[in-house]
Amino acid sequence: MPELSTDAIWQNRLEQIHSEVDDIRLPDVVDGVEQDEEWCEIVLNGEKRRIRFHDYANVFRIPGLYEELFYENLKCCSPSYIANLLESVVRENGESLDEFRVLDVGAGNGMVGDQMQALGVDSIVGVDIIPAAMEATHRDRPDVYDDYYITDLTDLPEVDEESLRQADANCLTTVAALGFGDIPPLAFAKALDLIATPGWLAFNLKEDFLREHDDSGFSQLIRRLNRDGYIQTHCYRRYQHRISMGGDPLFYVAVIARKVKELDNELLESLQSV
Ligand SMILES: C[S@@+](CC[C@H](N)C(=O)[O-])C[C@H]1O[C@@H](n2cnc3c(N)ncnc32)[C@H](O)[C@@H]1O
Repeated sequence: MPELSTDAIWQNRLEQIHSEVDDIRLPDVVDGVEQDEEWCEIVLNGEKRRIRFHDYANVFRIPGLYEELFYENLKCCSPSYIANLLESVVRENGESLDEFRVLDVGAGNGMVGDQMQALGVDSIVGVDIIPAAMEATHRDRPDVYDDYYITDLTDLPEVDEESLRQADANCLTTVAALGFGDIPPLAFAKALDLIATPGWLAFNLKEDFLREHDDSGFSQLIRRLNRDGYIQTHCYRRYQHRISMGGDPLFYVAVIARKVKELDNELLESLQSV
């Protein structure tokens, strides 16, 4: 059984990390700034620096900044929200997380891994595309991931594919990492292809990416995965992922689904140009 409630996990972790950030200041005037252009000013060893929220490499290099910025200041709840939702859906289905081997894609500095570990999963493998994410995970959460790969799922080297398949994952998590120039539909589908059938997937997406006229490709992909029987959606829930730098709620959709059919090359190839 976990010793901490999952909401307390990042706070406890932040205490262990010894944040190097003296202060974070969010700008006063924010009209018209897109979510992936948001920024803040931080004070680090007495010096001011401007940091764009989505410049993850720079964020991860400063111990404690990601946790303080997104979780303390911007009230992000997604890693614990998605992990708890997954746990409750899986339990309702008579299964238990202790047999889960998780592939966490867009793992960043390991906040989702922390949550899944606390819920008692068997193993966790992380994937990200920037080395700074893995370095931060090894620095701040050295005991969470069994393995961590820096690789590009849209063009996966054979050697990485082989190792990832050997991890024999039966659950895919991807939190706060789809869209916005981050993980594209092809990489998400490839990640889904890497887990076992049957398996589970838990992810979140900004609600706009699931609308009929979305042009990120996710709305179409998720619909197709359901329609053509690759996945079975068990839970589709709108919730507040975090607030924007101006203090407005940002709504995302949490999805918990079961992978029930192997993906085929035709599906993956059709996503090459999306
Ligand atoms: C907002 S962070 C989320 C980290 C973590 N999942 C969490 O919830 O705290 C997004 C992460 O996705 C990663 N990412 C972006 N594009 C990616 C891609 N194509 N493949 C894998 N990871 C990617 C970024 O490097 C970053 O670490």
